[in-house]
Amino acid sequence: MSTIGLSGQRVCVTGASRGIGAHACEVFARDGAQVLGIARSRDELADLRERLTEQGLAYDFATLDLTAPDAGKQLEALFTGFVPDVFVNNAGATKPAPFQDVSREDFDRVMELNVRAGFFSTQAAVRAMIANPASASRAIIHLGSMLGHVALPERSVYAATKHALEGLTKAMALDLAPHGIRVNALAPTYIETPLTEPLLTDPAFRKFVSDRMPMSTPERPIGELRDLDGALLFLADSSRSGLVSGTSVVVDGGWTAQ
Ligand SMILES: NC(=O)c1ccc[n+]([C@@H]2O[C@H](COP(=O)([O-])OP(=O)(O)OC[C@H]3O[C@@H](n4cnc5c(N)ncnc54)[C@H](OP(=O)(O)O)[C@@H]3O)[C@@H](O)[C@H]2O)c1
Repeated sequence: MSTIGLSGQRVCVTGASRGIGAHACEVFARDGAQVLGIARSRDELADLRERLTEQGLAYDFATLDLTAPDAGKQLEALFTGFVPDVFVNNAGATKPAPFQDVSREDFDRVMELNVRAGFFSTQAAVRAMIANPASASRAIIHLGSMLGHVALPERSVYAATKHALEGLTKAMALDLAPHGIRVNALAPTYIETPLTEPLLTDPAFRKFVSDRMPMSTPERPIGELRDLDGALLFLADSSRSGLVSGTSVVVDGGWTAQ
């Protein structure tokens, strides 16, 4: 096993301005990686850069709307200067509603980001990796969800997108194995972030989540960002997970075992 972690590796994370993406940038940078974060919110990205670079960590960002018509071209340009060894397809959104009430607009918005933009941003990263086969340890991590394995009421679109990412993970793993690129999904339970804040501020929903998670404790009733650190590092670091590809690491405190 490597003793130098991700030192010398370039890691690109989408959805890096807050939540899991911003946290993942810090985790990878602390492990020695040179990290590039992508999102739309310049101020939040700049704040993270200030915080990380003050600690001597290697982090920079690019502002980009992954759903913009020219996102592919922008990513292509970005990845000529920064060829990622690890690409984390993390940007995602949700809009809970009963199946019968889902509008075409909301369906398109969530599908557009979670599936279409995720697919093509990852494709841009993979094309850069294949064109620059310098690194021997390359990996893709799709931020899936436990809702890529099971469902909950009022999550039809979100669950469809996350199940799609699980299928994409397997298919990509087959196509990219000849290029030495591993592809996996990370599938968390509810984690406290800006995405889940509107849901988790409801005491009844908080209780539902902690009641459903066997590993919930009074000290940690709901999943926290730090609960993802080990899985993120494991999946990114080929010296720790070199034969792990086409699968999903579920970090759900036992939720989906029931
Ligand atoms: N939190 C959870 O409980 C949980 C559980 C399972 C899976 N996940 C998955 O984990 C991922 C991150 O979730 P989170 O909770 O950290 O969400 P979040 O706090 O809402 O953050 C979402 C990130 O995506 C970025 N983003 C949104 N639209 C974008 C666009 N068009 N172009 C570029 N960036 C965009 C946002 O930045 P800007 O607004 O600045 O663009 C933000 O940085 C998602 O895929 C989510 O489905 C989350």
